[in-house]
Amino acid sequence: MARKIAFAIRKGGSGKSTSSINVSTALLHKGQRVLLVDTDDQANATMGVGLEPDQLQYTLNDLFADPSLDPHLAIHQSYFGLHVLPAHDNLSKSEANMEPDDMFLLRLILKKLDSEYDFIIIDTPPTGGYLARNGLAAADEVIIPVRAGAFSRGGLRKELATIERARRYNPNLKIHGILPLSVDNTQFAADLLEEVAGTQDASIYPHHVPRTTYVDQANELGIPLVMYKPAHDASSAYLALAETLING
Ligand SMILES: Nc1ncnc2c1ncn2[C@@H]1O[C@H](COP(=O)(O)OP(=O)(O)O)[C@@H](O)[C@H]1O
Ligand SMILES: [Mg+2]
Repeated sequence: MARKIAFAIRKGGSGKSTSSINVSTALLHKGQRVLLVDTDDQANATMGVGLEPDQLQYTLNDLFADPSLDPHLAIHQSYFGLHVLPAHDNLSKSEANMEPDDMFLLRLILKKLDSEYDFIIIDTPPTGGYLARNGLAAADEVIIPVRAGAFSRGGLRKELATIERARRYNPNLKIHGILPLSVDNTQFAADLLEEVAGTQDASIYPHHVPRTTYVDQANELGIPLVMYKPAHDASSAYLALAETLING
């Protein structure tokens, strides 16, 4: 059984895609069988590992359109061997036609792949619509990335409420942890701690991802940061997070 972990927070620019890419790659490098699933029509995670949605015959969108399709048709390998179920910008059109039942399409698709992977990492869009809900419905656990520059006071508490609402359709959904990103001082982590004080099920990882311009360079090149600058502290943080996930 694969552990299905979604990176989710409704604020765009929080580090969902960057973290999905790098945690997936770090897990792969640690010998895990990993599938990266991109549910965001912006396809940032897909392109961040060097895949070009328009050049792929099948993407996640085709599986949503025809759930009887063999999901393996839409799984592609990145140039470094990561398995990816890619997004395509036409996902937004599919989302517009989705109905409440369609919230569970991804969960059904992943059921067919469950035995083939140790980890299925799901990147979700910042919108709270059906694509994001498909991600949250299919996941066992959520990681909430919070980027210092994108953070607003109270934002994290709002996100915890979103996850609480998702438990209406996925009662066993757990928050694995909160990942502070683009951190260049310790005050930010302290502020986050204050926000989650009093909530029981959210803990902040000890490994914070420091601020670095290499993130944008790596994303642009379609090379995961952990491969582009493996010795950088930001990569070390992602490798440490991968290790934490492997250990539970
Ligand atoms: N560690 C970091 N240091 C500096 N900038 C970062 C870092 N992580 C993310 N960013 C910035 O945040 C932007 C948004 O990240 P992304 O992962 O695409 O967020 P999301 O998927 O939540 O929209 C990146 O393009 C980059 O500019
Ligand atoms: Mg994203």
